[in-house]
Amino acid sequence: MIDQFIRVNQAGETAAVTIYKGQMAILGRQTPELKTLLAHMRDQEMVHLELMDQLIVDFKVRPTLLQPLAAVGGYMLGVTSALLGVKSAMTCTEAVETRIGGHYDDQLRDLYQLKYKELDELKGTIAKCRDEELEHLDTAVENGSQLAPLYKLQFELIKGGCGVAIWLCERI
Ligand SMILES: [Fe+2]
Ligand SMILES: [Fe+2]
Repeated sequence: MIDQFIRVNQAGETAAVTIYKGQMAILGRQTPELKTLLAHMRDQEMVHLELMDQLIVDFKVRPTLLQPLAAVGGYMLGVTSALLGVKSAMTCTEAVETRIGGHYDDQLRDLYQLKYKELDELKGTIAKCRDEELEHLDTAVENGSQLAPLYKLQFELIKGGCGVAIWLCERI
């Protein structure tokens, strides 16, 4: 179970970093405020990824074979959503962070059943990431995610896609 958790989380954070990099490539020059906002979320994702990379080493977990796909897929998602406009980029963020926030909550619920001291750091790391993902979600809503033209469709598609990606990365 722990192997699966760390494996999928490393892939998820890899995708998260590249989503924001992809969005920055398209929207980074639009306004200084937007650039700062995207860069802040990207930087937080880079810290999350470093934490997951360390857990991969500490718990001797095999990374998913889909790791390269997570990076490419994340970048493409970031670029595509940004090409649809700022609000659609924010819809992408809202959908991803909704799914990932729930995903981290599910993991924490399982981990809190286990009382081993060795898992304290893992629980702390996941809780920190969960809290920051939910901040990203709020940021997206505050920046008009729900006003995007294809909001409902895009939200459900991306959230569903994240669910499939999670399932695959836990197993492959
Ligand atoms: Fe993250
Ligand atoms: Fe995030």
